[in-house]
Amino acid sequence: MQNGLLVVLAATPVWILGVCLYRLYFSPLAKFPGPKLAALTGWVETYYDVYKGGQFFFKLKEWHAHYGPIVRINPWEVHISDPDAADIVFAGNSQFNKKIEWSYRFGIPQSAFDTVDHHLHKSRRAALSPFFSKQKIAGIADLIANRAQRLCDRLDNEYKHSGKPVIMDNAFTAYTFDLITTYVFARSDDYLEHPTFCGPFTTAAKSIANTVHMTGHFPWLFTFLQSLPKKWLAASNPHMGEMFTFHEAVENQVKVIKSGDNDAHKHVSHKTVFNELINSNLPAEEKTVERLRQEGVSVVTGGIETTSTALTKTLFYILNNPAVRDRVCAELQTVFPGPRQTPPLHVLESLPYLSAVINESLRMILGFSQRIIRTSPRAPVVYKDWVIPPGAYFSMTIYFSNFDAQIWEAPHEFRPERWLDDESGRKPRALNGEPLAKYLLTFGRGPRMCVGMNLARAEIIIGLAVVLRRCNMELFETGMEAVEMKSDYFIPMVDKESNGVRVIVK
Ligand code: HEM
Ligand SMILES: *[C@@H]1O[C@H](CO)[C@@H](O)[C@H](O)[C@H]1NC(C)=O
Repeated sequence: MQNGLLVVLAATPVWILGVCLYRLYFSPLAKFPGPKLAALTGWVETYYDVYKGGQFFFKLKEWHAHYGPIVRINPWEVHISDPDAADIVFAGNSQFNKKIEWSYRFGIPQSAFDTVDHHLHKSRRAALSPFFSKQKIAGIADLIANRAQRLCDRLDNEYKHSGKPVIMDNAFTAYTFDLITTYVFARSDDYLEHPTFCGPFTTAAKSIANTVHMTGHFPWLFTFLQSLPKKWLAASNPHMGEMFTFHEAVENQVKVIKSGDNDAHKHVSHKTVFNELINSNLPAEEKTVERLRQEGVSVVTGGIETTSTALTKTLFYILNNPAVRDRVCAELQTVFPGPRQTPPLHVLESLPYLSAVINESLRMILGFSQRIIRTSPRAPVVYKDWVIPPGAYFSMTIYFSNFDAQIWEAPHEFRPERWLDDESGRKPRALNGEPLAKYLLTFGRGPRMCVGMNLARAEIIIGLAVVLRRCNMELFETGMEAVEMKSDYFIPMVDKESNGVRVIVK
């Protein structure tokens, strides 16, 4: 017994030394540039993200400035900062997997979003994506317009001429929340009717984001917490409590739909996403309550915060640039028969300046701030002179592409004009001569590209058009601190002291 202990004690330093030597000199990633400490241990990343609170993102920026476009950022992963590498990492025909350790961090490893394996993802996505096709979304344009008009009715009735500021983050979250729940569950909690636009789950997505580094770095944590009594959890960490309550609410939705109790979809013109999935070609084991719950949580949380942040920040950029505001408002005047009569979606989509404004803010908002990771299970991946071995992780960050100074002129300035065709009708170009749209990575690209993009774009274009056409707004004590990213929690977080984008309705 004692001898055994001695052997372990003696062997531990040898083992640690062996791991260190391997990681530094013999690992297939040893030849990649990067800080030695990060090559030695994953705790560097954990330190910046868990202990310092979402700061690893900024380290990556520093490291790239020092080491070049490809950097080994931990023992198992290289990160690429090169907009053209999107053609490799997000290639349409690629068959990469996602990082397994991250698939547990939201507690939805069976959702399409967190499915590790390329082929399993493909079948899950095939069942999901028809629900969000361009055509299906065009079919709910009236519903979207109706909710946007309702939002403005409330601003008119309760805020106009009052001098009372309204927090647009909450107003737009209510709008995206009601729309995604109505569309996905055929049932709305009507957050747009809540007194300050805040419902029980208004901050759920932010809460989930707050836990993302913990659950990402300690993959067993989520499962462990889920097994604890909920009361304890809520008491020890309100973010966790709120998140699990949200999961339960979605599960109840699935159960009533599966048991046939919710026939609400018979009264609306579309089915729920669960009816779609249950009726799809997926095998039976893919249609369990548990898997449907996970897909439901993924789609709903994926659709709320991202899109409302996009709307809020876009509104800020517009109101903060009077010349832009005047030009958008003048353009909108030409297509609205009256302020309360929203033009058809395709008419709004055809407005060149509004489209330019939306692309420019999509460039700047970065729905996802955290890097996106892939791995190739069998074949090596070639980037320039570098060969990334199979099994190694490689990643890119949307932000780095959307703000790359070799692509965009003055990348930190809000310049919708960069998206306009020139006088001779030539499409806008990047500084390197390529078509500009190619470098807008906000929705990702390739087989894992955002499945909700058409819905997000429709909500943004209709929401903005209606709000700007109906309401004369002014920013209230709101500056760049309300939109600038201060930390990365998978989604970008602004300064904790910020009170949000607040406006006064005149
Ligand atoms: C401006 C708003 C949005 C942004 C910026 C955004 C961004 C993204 C990005 C970058 C990805 C790819 C992630 C990866 O490769 O790992 C993604 C995937 C996804 N998004 Fe969005 N998204 C937005 C709105 C929405 C909406 C409204 C929905 C609701 C339907 C949604 C649901 C999803 C889902 C389910 C996936 C996973 C797709 C898959 O893995 O096949 N997103 N989103
Ligand atoms: C906006 O970006 C999309 C996708 O990148 C592109 O298809 C579209 O042409 C762009 N619109 C404008 C006005 O440049």
